[in-house]
Amino acid sequence: MRRNIIAGNWKMNKSPVEGSQLVEETLKLLDPADMGTTIVVFCPPFTSIERVASLVKGRNNIFVAAQNCHWEKSGAYTGEVSASMIKAAGASYVIIGHSERRLYFQESNEQLAKKTDAVIGEGMKVIYCCGEPLEVREVNGHFELVEKQIREGLFHLSQAAFENVVIAYEPVWAIGTGKVASDEQAQEMHAFIRSLVAKQYDHDTAQQLTIQYGGSMKPSNAKGLMKQPDVDGGLIGGASLIAADFVGIVKSV
Ligand code: PGA
Repeated sequence: MRRNIIAGNWKMNKSPVEGSQLVEETLKLLDPADMGTTIVVFCPPFTSIERVASLVKGRNNIFVAAQNCHWEKSGAYTGEVSASMIKAAGASYVIIGHSERRLYFQESNEQLAKKTDAVIGEGMKVIYCCGEPLEVREVNGHFELVEKQIREGLFHLSQAAFENVVIAYEPVWAIGTGKVASDEQAQEMHAFIRSLVAKQYDHDTAQQLTIQYGGSMKPSNAKGLMKQPDVDGGLIGGASLIAADFVGIVKSV
């Protein structure tokens, strides 16, 4: 059965103390009965992973993710953090290829493929981001670009390894802009992504794949998006920093 996953991407926000407060507040509002089979993932900065992991320890439907990692296990890479270190800190997912990392840190699909291998090699799961900037959508190039991002970043994986992948479709023009993709635009791209996976692997693998939507998701628009047959949760930025909003999105699944 394919699971819905609601992940809160805090980006570069919250100190360890502030992050713990946010998680405690969120957990207080989150009645396990409201979660059903949904999985919740907190994605704090590296500095808060260990602390957040200790707060959700023992919960089999709440996990912690890092927002990035390096592909090497260790070595002279000043400022970087490896997948094995992230795992040791208590995370079980890593976001790879967020558009902010592609844009501000020039991460290429080739590098992302190596990061994906490192994460899965450590027994963690990847949340692989894809999505087009506005100028690409305006010339109708969005399907081609998303296909390239997925093909080059993920399709080197064996079928068994691919089972550890979650894809997040995040149109760049919708991230942090308040401008959300319409339910139809999201559904159209998610169905396209699922069809690519079915062609590369097989029907079952595609059906099992969780495909999140990301970009200005809020409690007010989450319900419509989540009703789409190929939208299986969300990667939430701004709204994940407000416990009531984040829980509101979880409840809308
Ligand atoms: P947003 O960010 O919800 O603030 O648009 C989503 C993301 O970047 O993952």
